[in-house]
Amino acid sequence: RILILDFGSQVTQLIARRLREAGVYCEIWPWNADEARLRAFAPRGIILSGGPASVTAEGSPHPTPAVFEAGVPVLGICYGEQLMCQMLGGEVQGSDHQEFGRAFVEVQAGSALFSGVWQAGGREQVWMSHGDRVTRLPEGFRVIATSEGAPYAAIADEARRFYGVQFHPEVAHTPHGAALLRNFTHGVCGCRGDWTMGAFRAEAIARIRAQVGEGRVVCGLSGGVDSSVAAVLIHEAIGDQLTCIFVDHGLLRQGEAEEVVRTFRDRFNIRLIHRDASELFLRALEGVVDPEQKRKTIGRLFVEVFDEEAKRLGGAGFLAQGTLYPDVIESAHPTGGASVTIKSHHNVGGLPERMNMKLVEPLRELFKDEVRALGRELGIPESIVGRHPFPGPGLAIRIPSAAVTREAVAMLQKADAIFLEEIRAAGLYDAIWQAFAVLLPVRSVGVMGDGRTYDQACALRAVTSTDGMTADIYPFDMAFLGRVASRIVNEVRGINRVTYDVTSKPPGTIEWE
Ligand code: XMP
Repeated sequence: RILILDFGSQVTQLIARRLREAGVYCEIWPWNADEARLRAFAPRGIILSGGPASVTAEGSPHPTPAVFEAGVPVLGICYGEQLMCQMLGGEVQGSDHQEFGRAFVEVQAGSALFSGVWQAGGREQVWMSHGDRVTRLPEGFRVIATSEGAPYAAIADEARRFYGVQFHPEVAHTPHGAALLRNFTHGVCGCRGDWTMGAFRAEAIARIRAQVGEGRVVCGLSGGVDSSVAAVLIHEAIGDQLTCIFVDHGLLRQGEAEEVVRTFRDRFNIRLIHRDASELFLRALEGVVDPEQKRKTIGRLFVEVFDEEAKRLGGAGFLAQGTLYPDVIESAHPTGGASVTIKSHHNVGGLPERMNMKLVEPLRELFKDEVRALGRELGIPESIVGRHPFPGPGLAIRIPSAAVTREAVAMLQKADAIFLEEIRAAGLYDAIWQAFAVLLPVRSVGVMGDGRTYDQACALRAVTSTDGMTADIYPFDMAFLGRVASRIVNEVRGINRVTYDVTSKPPGTIEWE
């Protein structure tokens, strides 16, 4: 196993992710972990992450010197490389030539770090992000790659098995970065690479048990992938010490609320409180047209109802959340303890503070696709694990420029279900990031049978994306769209026209509100 010491880089978790992809178990600790803890962990190798600080600045984070005395290989990345140089007797200076973004390095020498990937004399693309630079190497080190702004772009002391890179091998913009990390873990540290999601499951369960003890946990279940996986995992760890609270705001996709109850209560035997609060939400949303107002209303009410149910239940000291790594905006704070800001998947920030409970977040280190893999490992049905993302405020923000009513929600649910059913039948579901219907606030004239109609229009939206930050439209063929349109107009009363949204993101957003 590998220990990653975190100096506050935004991409530290990507190092862990690359290691897991290569089948290597690793843990990320704050940089100030003490010597005893480090020795007890007995890693096969240590990786020092990047970070925003400058090693030359007073009070900048420095790890215990034991890192370099444990007799195991060390890889320093960016800030980590500079630390390595400074702590082992080299010199680091602030540089006036800053390098950010894409850069090229000249490979100067062969190295265990480059084995089978980079050859001496090669020119390779990397992702740089640094201001300081190494100006004198510690004894025993040599330069193995240079770049224009960083004469010490990569350095090595092969005897002690210490390596430093000024660039970030963990990001996708360093094309061979994963292979370099693999050289370090497999080649230099001798990891076998046989760690799997099954092992993660076992370790996560042990960690949950250790954290919770005899305590009781409440978990907000939304039916989405993250909270579902968190709930099943925690249930496997502590059984009936867990109670899930499903605040049903009545704004889910058609049939989803029932599926959540069926799956978790009946199939997984999880204690589940299903609070049908749709009446409450609809009343609060009455006359609310502004998108942010809708979000705020729903977020506030969600917290209130959840809190009420948790209080009624009583006695729970822990709150479980399906927070993923991308939700953790800031990781270990460079100057000290782990201070984190969390964006809840329900956009209901404030839940933990308000409830004064300790957080259980077993998915904090994982990325979405890893959570899906874990969910499959746990036997959660594909219909939940592979489900498209869904916004916390639900269908309320798919009824743009209008207030939410029970009738509008019902109409939208039907149209949406038809669209998704056709997408599944055509085998396209997994190729699409998100697909849904939007109920438009326009009425238009149509003709059905012998009669005139004057009904609402609905827009269909389907996009491809890798992270929701940017998106392209999904290029359905017209025959498919025609089929969906015809079904919706025929089967959903109140809708007589269907359009397809062909706007990418940017400049559009995925949701209409
Ligand atoms: P946009 O519309 O900003 O959406 O392109 C990007 C992704 O975020 C989801 N989304 C939300 N999720 N609460 C959420 O939990 C929200 O208020 C919210 N708004 C958008 C959206 O579905 C897409 O996946």
